[in-house]
Amino acid sequence: MTNHIEIFEVGPRDGLQNEARNIPVSEKIALVDCLSQAGFSRIEMASFVSPKWVPQMASSAEVLAGIKRAKGVSYAALTPNLRGFEDALAARADEVAIFGSASEGFSRANINATIAESLARFVPVMQAAKEAGIRVRGYISCVTDCPYDGSVAPAQVAHVADQLFKMGCYEVSLGDTIGQGTPETVSAMLSAVSDVVPVQQMAGHFHDTAGRALENIDASIEAGVRVFDAAVGGLGGCPYAPGAAGNVATELAHDHLIKQGYDTGLNRDVLTKAADMSRAMRG
Ligand code: HMG
Ligand code: MG
Repeated sequence: MTNHIEIFEVGPRDGLQNEARNIPVSEKIALVDCLSQAGFSRIEMASFVSPKWVPQMASSAEVLAGIKRAKGVSYAALTPNLRGFEDALAARADEVAIFGSASEGFSRANINATIAESLARFVPVMQAAKEAGIRVRGYISCVTDCPYDGSVAPAQVAHVADQLFKMGCYEVSLGDTIGQGTPETVSAMLSAVSDVVPVQQMAGHFHDTAGRALENIDASIEAGVRVFDAAVGGLGGCPYAPGAAGNVATELAHDHLIKQGYDTGLNRDVLTKAADMSRAMRG
């Protein structure tokens, strides 16, 4: 078993999307440029969604145009539909992500579609991405708990994961959107998903609302997961998930993993600098 665990930095997207203050493009670019020096291989920093739904992300193309692209870093963007994919391609995102939900309530609130409708909407995105040679990650929200529907059955998560994987997503990121998962519910969910997606192609995406994200990371490591999404400074939340706090802080996850003898390949001094920058950007 490899000793390496990858942290996928999502702060400039999942973190900033929820900030009320209209953050200037120059500040967003400065944060991404700083993160580019930390040693990440993937940084999610753009989202081509409706600006009416998430105004903060309306500057995504400008941010992509302004960053200094570091060698070996893949700059990622969320794309809810074909229009978003075309915009991401024009802005030269290196990879994109489609995002669905394991619960109907959150699917409706977040992307205005049932789960089945959202999966149908992703098909043309996958087709266009294949033609353009762009790889696609798949997110599933509410993998243990939903702010609208309550607890979510592992079989329901496995159903959506199966569909995303069969569609061609290279990795399925499993989101505890409102940070209510426990090591028990996370383990049960991972066990169901591992029947349909190889564990090497799963990622954990834990929001830290109840302060249990690190325990949930440990439970996921136990199940064989080796990629975790995190946001510097613990930025974020989801505008359509009431009560959702930020993602687990990158620096916290990093220190926790190092203490357990894992290697993340990240530069701690740069993480500290980026975390300070991200906190200063908060409204
Ligand atoms: P809709 O209203 O059903 O779609 O929204 P529509 O096709 O009827 O379009 C409505 C308007 O949006 C139209 O404009 C479209 O042109 C425009 P209008 O005629 O009203 O002026 N539009 C777009 N504009 C820019 N880019 C686009 C685009 N598509 C349509 N791509 C839609 C459906 C999916 C667009 C909307 O619901 C939406 O944008 N939702 C995004 C919500 C979001 O970004 N949430 C946060 C990200 S997910 C998350 O944080 C969870 C995650 O971190 C994992 C976890 O923690 O669980 C990933
Ligand atoms: Mg999230």
